[in-house]
Amino acid sequence: MIVAVLIIAIILVAGGSLFLLANRQRAATGNLSRETRRRDEATAGEATESAPTSAEVELSAEARARADEARGQAGGALAKRKRGDITAWEPVDEEELGVTRRQFLNRGILVTMLAGLGTFGASLLAFLWPSSTAGFGSTIGAGKLGDILGFMDTNKQPYYVPEARTYIQPYPKSGLPKAKKVYDDFIYAGMEQGIVALYQKCVHLGCRVPWCQSAQWFECPCHGSKYNRVGEKRDGPAPRGLDRFQAIVNGGNVSINTGLLAVGPPIGTDTTGQVAEGPHCVG
Ligand code: FES
Repeated sequence: MIVAVLIIAIILVAGGSLFLLANRQRAATGNLSRETRRRDEATAGEATESAPTSAEVELSAEARARADEARGQAGGALAKRKRGDITAWEPVDEEELGVTRRQFLNRGILVTMLAGLGTFGASLLAFLWPSSTAGFGSTIGAGKLGDILGFMDTNKQPYYVPEARTYIQPYPKSGLPKAKKVYDDFIYAGMEQGIVALYQKCVHLGCRVPWCQSAQWFECPCHGSKYNRVGEKRDGPAPRGLDRFQAIVNGGNVSINTGLLAVGPPIGTDTTGQVAEGPHCVG
């Protein structure tokens, strides 16, 4: 709806500008400016005040005769001219050509304006047009629940979904009673299915938090924040646990709703009791 209104607005503005410009051009062509008219009137006044002398009249008559003679010669030469003859160059009258310099410039400005408006409109449309492909901010398919659980169990590492910028981690059944008291229902629903979807961004200053295989925790290299396997804060300056998305399990398929973010659990939350299982990656 907004896009349609914008398109109509752009078309109206472009049309209005063209109409105004065309009118101005039409009005300007063949009309004298006020200043020119004033100058003409002043000259006419002077002319009536001082009538030409007989010598001046004679001179101008002579000049006219010379001009007529030259024109006659030119006409004769033109009549006698044959195809392929070389003739002297004569300046071209722009009015005769049909396009004056002013018209040319006006049309140039018009075309430039149109091109500018067209480019601007096209970029605006490209920017506002809804993207046909789903991406971060929408619901993103992650795969089969069985495959994801199998991968995490075998490799002892999270299942990473790059499009969702999310780590999927297993959630143990033993933690559910505590989790029910801490997490929102839409997050808890995923935990009941055995998974939790953690946003990769550190809640301290936004670095991407990598997985530390030896400790089996998430450890942020930027300032040393540490989170356990299910993203609950264990150490460092982070003000809470990792934020998380809704994990939806439907017909054995997992999808992540990256449009619905739950703020991480408060400091002190420990629903699984998992301790570091080896050396830390970040000191
Ligand atoms: Fe991760 Fe500062 S950004 S600890």
